[in-house]
Amino acid sequence: MKRFIKKVLITERSLIPLWLLRKIGRILLPRYRFKWIQLDWWDNQDFTRYLQRYDELQRLNTDRRWMLYQLLRLIEGIAGDTAECGVYKGASSHLILCANRTAAYPRTHFAFDSYAGLSQPDAIDGQHWSSGDLSVSLDQVRSNLARLGKVELMQGWIPQRFPEVAQRSFAFIHVDVDLYQPTLDSIEFFYPRMPPGAVFVCDDYGCSTCPGATAAIDGYLADKPEKMLALPDGGGFFIRGTNTAAAAPLV
Ligand SMILES: C[S@@+](CC[C@H](N)C(=O)[O-])C[C@H]1O[C@@H](n2cnc3c(N)ncnc32)[C@H](O)[C@@H]1O
Repeated sequence: MKRFIKKVLITERSLIPLWLLRKIGRILLPRYRFKWIQLDWWDNQDFTRYLQRYDELQRLNTDRRWMLYQLLRLIEGIAGDTAECGVYKGASSHLILCANRTAAYPRTHFAFDSYAGLSQPDAIDGQHWSSGDLSVSLDQVRSNLARLGKVELMQGWIPQRFPEVAQRSFAFIHVDVDLYQPTLDSIEFFYPRMPPGAVFVCDDYGCSTCPGATAAIDGYLADKPEKMLALPDGGGFFIRGTNTAAAAPLV
């Protein structure tokens, strides 16, 4: 222990608070896993400003925001529009619109939300959510996304307004509605409209607060060649046309 402390003092003074936090964390929240703090993206000034704009810098979703930002790079060569199901204040649509601005293909972004919060959860959704949670004013979203590019705010309960985009194809879909039924409605509608290489992300996948969303995605993909890749900080994605093996059993 003494050697470790000496090494830390000499090489990385900034790790001392982390070491202390881990000690305290082991007592207060033993199953919580800390991570290293030497991450380049934490120093990305543009991304920090983006998080601050949505008051998210000190919140718990920053890893998933960064992952979405990076996953958007995969559709460089894929024609088609983009869509989000579950928009809230527009933070993730903001990232999608930024990617669309520099895309080789002209894209319209379709932002589907009730803008009146969640619909009624089913039994499969557990106890975490209630209808009306996460409601937001449409004007606030409009103002957050103004000047970022071509966006259509599609207000209504999913899937009511999907038929309006039935003739389009989609290069990127972000689903973040927390619940089983609208997640299932979203993947059922968008999967057949994704060309090979298109990316589908579900923010709620693998989060124990959203068991219905995980079940909807896994159920739909059960007979498809693509499976969800579960990301370490929650959320998951698949690439249309890329066969995905089941995770190997660990021995
Ligand atoms: C977690 S928030 C979305 C967060 C957003 N993607 C972000 O990154 O900031 C979930 C959103 O799903 C919407 N929503 C939930 N169920 C819905 C449904 N059945 N139809 C339409 N919108 C729904 C809610 O209104 C809410 O804005």
